[in-house]
Amino acid sequence: MIPDVFAEDFAHMSPVWGRIFNFIAERAEGSYIYTTDGRKLLDFTCGIGVTNTGHCHPKVVAAIREQAGLFLHAQANIVIHQPMLRLIEELRTVVPPEIDGFFFSNSGAEAVEGAVKLARAATGRQNIIVFSGSFHGRTVGTMALTTSKTIYRAGFGPLPSGVFVSPFPYAFRLGMSEEQASAYALEQLEYLLASQTAPKETAAILIESVLGEGGYVVPPASFIKGLREIADRHGILLIFDEVQSGFGRTGRWFAFEHYGVLPDIMTVAKGIASGLPLSGVFSRLDLMKKWDVGSHGGTYGGNAVACASGVATIQAMREEKMVENATERGIQLMTGLRKLQEEYSEIGDVRGKGLMVGTELVVGVHPEKAKPLVKDIVHAAEERDLLLLTCGTYDNTIRWIPPLNVTSEQINDGLRVFGDALRTVIR
Ligand SMILES: Cc1ncc(COP(=O)(O)O)c(C=O)c1O
Repeated sequence: MIPDVFAEDFAHMSPVWGRIFNFIAERAEGSYIYTTDGRKLLDFTCGIGVTNTGHCHPKVVAAIREQAGLFLHAQANIVIHQPMLRLIEELRTVVPPEIDGFFFSNSGAEAVEGAVKLARAATGRQNIIVFSGSFHGRTVGTMALTTSKTIYRAGFGPLPSGVFVSPFPYAFRLGMSEEQASAYALEQLEYLLASQTAPKETAAILIESVLGEGGYVVPPASFIKGLREIADRHGILLIFDEVQSGFGRTGRWFAFEHYGVLPDIMTVAKGIASGLPLSGVFSRLDLMKKWDVGSHGGTYGGNAVACASGVATIQAMREEKMVENATERGIQLMTGLRKLQEEYSEIGDVRGKGLMVGTELVVGVHPEKAKPLVKDIVHAAEERDLLLLTCGTYDNTIRWIPPLNVTSEQINDGLRVFGDALRTVIR
């Protein structure tokens, strides 16, 4: 509830921010958010996959404090600063050696826009292929690349042109096995290249390494390998959007590592700096060299305090084995959810990698039918002090994004509350 003292201010917040819950956070620590009205909430949203090291990790907070005492802003065209150089040093220990060029910006959408500009500059081609259910941002450029919901684009046209959409191998919804879905989606991509966007006009194939907003769907490895093969055959660049799936979320530093395939360009944001605005376009340096000097940039990109936070984030993740913990706790979470699936036929699918886990609810044939049920479950969980998010075009999937240092007890707490919420809403 919004207390009376803030009611007037709250009324003036732009309503464009749709909101799931109405509490005011006072502070947050680890896996918990503490509210002004005395509640302690188990946060399995992580601010949409941002606070991967938990809220206010002491090493991250110390690094931010230290850098804030030195300088806040040093514009990248004017000043070279140590936090950025240190961040590049840390990043080179976690990204594959082939990815050796680093550019920084502030948000995920900005990074995706940068990646598209880079692909166009490097190939001299214009078109971009994305996949159904994709989410790459909500700016004027990225809304054309985002196909997860019409709300992100309706009324904002004309959309930038040169974007083509191919089916994502969403096996559960297609009613196919993973391998059938993979073969189908690859065939459709070949068809798109033969019928709508000629390879010689196609700069890049852009894909989320794990489909996020569109439903938390892990593509089959054979599909990603197929993308690499098609891209190579036609001189098209392959861009992995790791904005949500990166920085340990899936039990690897980056989700593409699960498939044994390298991107030409990757985009990151969210988990890179534990909550400070920082994003990046990383690619082979030879591609970056094709970007005309000054043709891309920004005032704040690679902010010094955000970079210091990024350095501490990577170090804390490594020292405290958070990536390994994501794998272990992810198995625990999925095992618990699959047990609940045996009890509740409404849980149609439990899927994910590491701590990027989705439970798709099913009511009748059309996915939209599950939306009210999902909403009720999320609210029942919140009443019991567990925060969960939804995803999917029809908001028919519950997404689980706990911090990567979540404990086994906290996962069990989350499962217990989820079970209670299901019992209340369904029975
Ligand atoms: C995969 C992916 N790409 C891009 C974005 C856009 O990031 P931002 O909201 O920081 O602009 C998001 C945001 O959720 C995302 O999940």
